[in-house]
Amino acid sequence: MRKAIIAGNWKMNKTPKEATELVNALKPLVKDAVCDVVVCVPAVDIANAVEAAAGSNIKVGAQNVHFMESGAYTGELSAAMLKEAGAEYVIIGHSERRQYFGETDFTVNKRVLAAVKAGLKVIVCVGEKKEERVDGYTDALVSYQTLIALTGLTPDEVKDVIIAYEPVWAIGTGLVATDEQANETIGVIRKAIEGKYGKDVADTVRIQYGGSMKPANVKGLMAQPEIDGGLIGGASLKADEFALVVNYDK
Ligand code: 13P
Repeated sequence: MRKAIIAGNWKMNKTPKEATELVNALKPLVKDAVCDVVVCVPAVDIANAVEAAAGSNIKVGAQNVHFMESGAYTGELSAAMLKEAGAEYVIIGHSERRQYFGETDFTVNKRVLAAVKAGLKVIVCVGEKKEERVDGYTDALVSYQTLIALTGLTPDEVKDVIIAYEPVWAIGTGLVATDEQANETIGVIRKAIEGKYGKDVADTVRIQYGGSMKPANVKGLMAQPEIDGGLIGGASLKADEFALVVNYDK
């Protein structure tokens, strides 16, 4: 039985002071959650979010990580830096990073290896664009993205990875994959993992859905057998709205 994990992706929103306020507001609202609760915040907000979340069930994550340990990489942050700042999780390969910042499956894999080595839990994002779904490439694409991202990890390390299936056409658009579409594609991802790492690993890996997930649709999505949680953008920016997603079972 996989434990569900609901993570907020704040993207480029909230200053450190606002991060403190949002986490403080969230704490009492999600304290009885049956799932793991994570907020992935801008890097400069990590310290404040960690301080505000202390003693609660809220974990803090980052939104990107560089793959080198240190060196002349102006503006970048290493896995060790994020870990020491208090991040336990990191999102890797979000479609916005692929779209705007030149992220490729190859660099996603390098980041995954660096983050896992440093002891961060990774949330790896995969997903197809609208035209790729229309042309029938979704299954091949998400399988390929997933397997490349995981290359070089041991089967035990793969078990701890969280995959976020985020159809690009559903992100920030209000368009949501149907419960069945999301379940089916997440099942395809799990099958791809099974093909390479075996059933035990595939049955353990948690796979989230992301893309316009919100209080109004969370129950239907979470009722699907393959869906183990959500990666939430817009609806994670207000405490009461995010809490309704986290408390999907209530
Ligand atoms: P929205 O929930 O705003 O569609 O964003 C989804 C997402 O990109 C989470 O990483």
